[in-house]
Amino acid sequence: MDRPVHLRPRRRLLPNVLGLMLVAGLGAAWVGYTARTLGVPARQVLRQPWRAAQLSLGINPAPKALRVPPVQPLSAMAQLGRALFYDRALSASGRMSCVSCHDPATGYGPPPGSGAVMLGGPTLRTPGLRAPPSLAYLYRRMPFSIGPDNEQNEITLAAQLLHAAGSHPRAVKTAADPAAASTNLVPQGGLFWDGRVDSLQAQADGPLFNPAEMDAGTPQRVTAILRRSPLAPQFRQLFGARIFDDAQRTVSEALFAIARYQIEDPSFHAFNSKYDAWLQGKARLSRQEIRGYLAFIDPRRGNCAACHLAAPSRDGLPPLFTDAQYEALGVPRNAAIPANRDPAFHDLGLCGPVRQDLRSQQRYCGMFLTPTLRNVARRPVFFHNGVYHDLRQVLDFYALRDSAPQRVYPRDAHGRVLRFDDLPAADRGNVDTVDAPFGRASGAAPAISARDRRAIIAFLRTLNDGWRAPPP
Ligand code: HEC
Ligand code: HEC
Repeated sequence: MDRPVHLRPRRRLLPNVLGLMLVAGLGAAWVGYTARTLGVPARQVLRQPWRAAQLSLGINPAPKALRVPPVQPLSAMAQLGRALFYDRALSASGRMSCVSCHDPATGYGPPPGSGAVMLGGPTLRTPGLRAPPSLAYLYRRMPFSIGPDNEQNEITLAAQLLHAAGSHPRAVKTAADPAAASTNLVPQGGLFWDGRVDSLQAQADGPLFNPAEMDAGTPQRVTAILRRSPLAPQFRQLFGARIFDDAQRTVSEALFAIARYQIEDPSFHAFNSKYDAWLQGKARLSRQEIRGYLAFIDPRRGNCAACHLAAPSRDGLPPLFTDAQYEALGVPRNAAIPANRDPAFHDLGLCGPVRQDLRSQQRYCGMFLTPTLRNVARRPVFFHNGVYHDLRQVLDFYALRDSAPQRVYPRDAHGRVLRFDDLPAADRGNVDTVDAPFGRASGAAPAISARDRRAIIAFLRTLNDGWRAPPP
């Protein structure tokens, strides 16, 4: 009588167990596969399977509306600024304008094919000292200051939670200023590689009159040229009929107009990269781009986002890929810079020789501004001294500087590797040797694997402006 009752569950037991094993097996295989493609530990996938599934399909698990600057017609002032930005007549050579070194094709960085430094001056043969930085995405830059860490570093991006679930709630950066770490006062803001100028307007008279750049001579010379130029009516209209009587004022209004152009023209803050579309849930990243993105923000792998901020602010301001702070990375010396033929010459960024006011502050020697990485894949040269020409070299530098320094630095006559060879011995202690991707012992595995390095480069390409959705 009881038999059928007993038999029924028994007959089901076997298929149920098999079914369960199959599901578990498939699940484990999926977790393993997803973890491998994303490059994260399996337990992170297990902890947030839904988020991991979306990421593995290239989908942003937490899209967000971005607050980008409004697109408006240029003011009359900005239109004049645009004409001046492209005007070669002001330079001593008659052949150089702002665009010669800040080309819209490379995100307003050096034009394609440039060497480490640009040639300027009267015959375009006087070399500069540094690579031209990008002029884009400066619209939120604060004036230079040394003050409390502004906490911009906080990464709120939902995808970061994939890591936050582990032991690292936020990207790590402790060595911004080792000497002042207790008070956490850090240099931040400003323009130029050493932050020596505070505003776009003050900025432009440097290159305009710099003998290694446009070498425009005196304000009187510039004014005489403008008075005869096709732009003269615009000047009189905007600044009054007698504007050219005052050379100082003419130059300062011209610089103001150039600054207005950079602030108003949308091409200086387009925010139309594939990554911007992805942040808003309007694009999918490829598997490699996602992997690169996760390595970029992972505090244990690239840790790039600790300095090159990648997340929108809480109120939706898009990320600029810089925290506008200063770091000493110890990039190798560049023999292609003529000034470096003198072994006693050192470009120390914040503490001189170009910048003058912090010369006595040894703890800042070797520090340079963290640049934006937007459009960086279009740049022909990288770092303040333009020592690298290829993003692969940049990624190898970050991955191998500490774990395989012999692949980054030259050797001396005795075969010793010259680590941090672009800094005097006394300043080498300022270099960040603690936070990932740095801090690996020589000979240890690098924090960023070769596969992750390729993926990070793929991710960096998603930061190029001008992305268009593929036709459906
Ligand atoms: C010969 C090349 C050259 C020309 C021409 C040139 N610049 Fe530059 N520019 C540079 C270099 C090199 C730097 C970085 C110098 C440094 O950090 O000391 C720079 C830096 C800048 C910066 C700071 C950007 C930042 O991210 O901090 C601004 C703004 C700028 N230039 C504007 C202009 C304007 C406006 C013009 C035209 C009036 C101009 N430049 C012409 C080479 C040039
Ligand atoms: C500790 C802060 C910090 C971290 C972490 C960091 N960077 Fe940088 N990055 C900088 C600074 C500072 C510079 C400029 C250094 C110089 O020129 O001497 C720079 C420059 C660059 C440049 C050259 C840009 C240009 O315009 O020349 C690239 C590319 C770059 N970083 C990518 C990365 C990537 C990828 C990672 C992660 C693997 C990373 N960075 C991690 C601070 C950082």
